[in-house]
Amino acid sequence: MSKLSRLDRRTFLRSTGMTAVAGAVGGAVPLAAQGGGGALQQDGRYDFDTIYSRIGTDSSKWDAQIARYGRDKIEVGMGTADQDFRIAPPITDALRKRIGHENYGYLSIPGSYKESIVDWNRRRYGLEIDPDTIQHAAGVHAGVISTLRAFCPPGSKVLMQTPGYNGFYTDIRVVGCVAEESPLKLVDGRYRMDFEDLERRIDHDTHAFILCNPHNPTGNVWSRSDLMTLGEICNRRRVVVLADEIHCDFVTKGHTYTPFATLDDEAIVRNSVTFKSVSKSFNLSMMKCAYQFSTNPDYLERIAGAGQHRQSMNTLGIIAAEAAYNEGEDWLDQLLEYIDGTQDLVESTVNANVPGVKTVKPEGTFLAWLDVAEAMDRTRMKQAAAAAERPTTPEQAFQRFLVDHAHIHLNAGSSYGLGSDGRMRMNIGTSRQLVQRALSNMAKALATA
Ligand SMILES: Cc1ncc(COP(=O)(O)O)c(C=O)c1O
Repeated sequence: MSKLSRLDRRTFLRSTGMTAVAGAVGGAVPLAAQGGGGALQQDGRYDFDTIYSRIGTDSSKWDAQIARYGRDKIEVGMGTADQDFRIAPPITDALRKRIGHENYGYLSIPGSYKESIVDWNRRRYGLEIDPDTIQHAAGVHAGVISTLRAFCPPGSKVLMQTPGYNGFYTDIRVVGCVAEESPLKLVDGRYRMDFEDLERRIDHDTHAFILCNPHNPTGNVWSRSDLMTLGEICNRRRVVVLADEIHCDFVTKGHTYTPFATLDDEAIVRNSVTFKSVSKSFNLSMMKCAYQFSTNPDYLERIAGAGQHRQSMNTLGIIAAEAAYNEGEDWLDQLLEYIDGTQDLVESTVNANVPGVKTVKPEGTFLAWLDVAEAMDRTRMKQAAAAAERPTTPEQAFQRFLVDHAHIHLNAGSSYGLGSDGRMRMNIGTSRQLVQRALSNMAKALATA
């Protein structure tokens, strides 16, 4: 049994310094003194290397898998797309300060919160957002659902590219629509948009297209020219673009994220709504604090009206998001370097040492998209899936194989739609030590299979 999986809740709290912090809320416990998992060190660098255990905090990436498979089976949780690091210290400081005031009654959302969104996007991406065009949401899903409801009658088709983020299928289902999948093309190991296929799939019953940039799960960061071509097709065919840019702050070296709203054609931009959040960038997913905007006031009105977009946010989420955008930049920049290095490590280690598995360094996100087709053949996963008691895809069978034999939990490719056969998604947003351990476990499991 692993060291991590032996930790019970109290040991875990003690090991992470949480009991000390809890006892000192409002007091001055310097974060550096707690050590590990993203803590700020004397030299101004954040320590992302030391493992920061989340076991015992109801984490879906760790605890839900331990509950499902058993403690001894989960040495590294690498599913759900969040990270295992401590948040940036200014966020914790801002939260501590707010918690000192013991009242959480109704709020007017402060202008400073919207300003932090505007400043962040201008400073980092040259994107100008009119603060009056920002709509709040308790998550990107909530905004996507209202927008689909506004534009897509039940039963109509919503276009998306696959492999594609599995959560989109749920959003589309929730509004009673049907996913129309346009597979990406694989050219020399890299995914490319297939514009002909995409356009061919648009008919009188297609009203919206969900764009994901950077793209979950493949990690592609779409070029300005790709986005222009796509925007032109959607504008001409009267298909509204929902640009989900939740992963935009994670781009690996040599790549640039282009916000859809910075394209040089006003009509194309007016045909879009962009969705963003601090959740991935600053590890604040359950603070439920997201936003969407559009240069098209009619679209925003439709989302609020026909889309029934009526969203509240929570006090701590607003505080955390504002601190993240205003004061978390240094932390994020260091994290980006760290993730970039981990992506290099994953690419070289997988391709050299993990039998039957290949991967290409992604252009963005903290996800790795593994080609496990050969490993699945070798471990006879098609046969295992066919023999399973419940309906199981070969990728789900391989997910189970990895839990049982490598003690790691990855997401099965089959949940990402067309073109995901023989693939697994690995979340590398964790200490490099754990990534190395996971790859080494995987290599051993496959070498002896
Ligand atoms: C592309 C994409 N969109 C949306 C979400 C979920 O966003 P939220 O938690 O803000 O609803 C995720 C989470 O993994 C995602 O990867």
